[in-house]
Amino acid sequence: MPIRAWFPTHIYCEPLQKSGRARFNADLADECRRLRDFDAAGRRWSAKNYPGGYTSYASMNELHRFSSTFAELEKKFTRHVRAFARTLDMDLRGRSIRLTDLWVNIMPPTAAHSLHLHPLSFISGTYYVTTPRDCPGLKFEDPRLSKFMAAPPKLPDARRENKIHVTYPAEAGNVILFESWLRHEVAANRTTAERISVSFNFNWA
Ligand SMILES: [Fe+2]
Repeated sequence: MPIRAWFPTHIYCEPLQKSGRARFNADLADECRRLRDFDAAGRRWSAKNYPGGYTSYASMNELHRFSSTFAELEKKFTRHVRAFARTLDMDLRGRSIRLTDLWVNIMPPTAAHSLHLHPLSFISGTYYVTTPRDCPGLKFEDPRLSKFMAAPPKLPDARRENKIHVTYPAEAGNVILFESWLRHEVAANRTTAERISVSFNFNWA
């Protein structure tokens, strides 16, 4: 082939575990809602920075250190992150990886999460706990967008690898991983129910 694709952007999407997801997520959703009730500082921060929604990102972002439920999630996430890092050919021989932040996001109807990335980490991800039918997915942006300059627009039916955005559906029980520099957003929740997810960052040393 005279033309080959180089420098791909990888996104990982897998079920967190093989079985027991419904029960696990029901318990986890309860714990996320209890956290929101308990976390007054987080509710105040969210009122200013996450309109309509709740996130513990700025108040309780090391949940794995304080709750056995989230510590269990840390173990499960670590296995997935190792698998993803292997796919990326990251050289972690003699190095360790560590979950640094883990926080809860609750998006009631109308809440949205604007375009952002996750600084100071190398792999980030989200686990879906409660995903009402037709709730918004996770939309990623081509990281080269700022370099396209004079490029013409892409065809509506452009091949997958040539698209400039991709949206992964939010499906309860799935974990999505991406390199932390990859910008992403969540559109407004237009359903009538809460969408609940747990997000996290990993670093290496
Ligand atoms: Fe994010």
